[in-house]
Amino acid sequence: MNIRTREEELKAVQMLGLKLPTDPRWVNMAEMDLTEILTDHAYCEQKAATSCITLIQAYPEHDELVRQLAPIVTEEWGHFRMVLAELDKRGLKLGRQRKDEYVNKLLAFNRKGGHPQDRLMDKLLTCALIEARSCERFRLLSLNIKEEALKEWYYKFMVAEAGHYRLFIDLAKLYCDEDEVRARWKEFLEHEAKIMQELELRGDRMH
Ligand SMILES: [Fe+2]
Ligand SMILES: [Fe+2]
Repeated sequence: MNIRTREEELKAVQMLGLKLPTDPRWVNMAEMDLTEILTDHAYCEQKAATSCITLIQAYPEHDELVRQLAPIVTEEWGHFRMVLAELDKRGLKLGRQRKDEYVNKLLAFNRKGGHPQDRLMDKLLTCALIEARSCERFRLLSLNIKEEALKEWYYKFMVAEAGHYRLFIDLAKLYCDEDEVRARWKEFLEHEAKIMQELELRGDRMH
């Protein structure tokens, strides 16, 4: 098996096609209040688990989707528990969930009517995009956060979310026309860059 070194991994996941790199100052903002960023992170993991369950419920006839996403539910919930453990370790409390403007804006870009296959494509590409952006941000945290232990901790999330990004793209290509997926992915990337430009850069948000 081809195992990447840490440097190769960090380079490979640098942008994942994303058009707008995150302002590196975001890490300094995020590390100022770990309760805030860890709380937001925890709910990102919870939502990732939930959206995999929702996809399984909506598409039970898609065997491969069910088979591939079932273990991701467990993995994302494991991530939620990792964040919870990190909060506990520091004597910090999980806060309440916040309005997720980033995800809401991406969902608004999803096609509502039309062919069911197009709707599935948009759902899978939305998941892929959230994974890609999370991965890009975990990478920045892993590289630039001051606390050494957290660099390693965030690195693990970065690697995992990069794998999920690839899985969602592969599932989209499995169930939809590959050329259409490529074209739509481009539209998603363009749109995501606009969303990122509009959103205020906040240290208490993963996105
Ligand atoms: Fe995760
Ligand atoms: Fe993920």
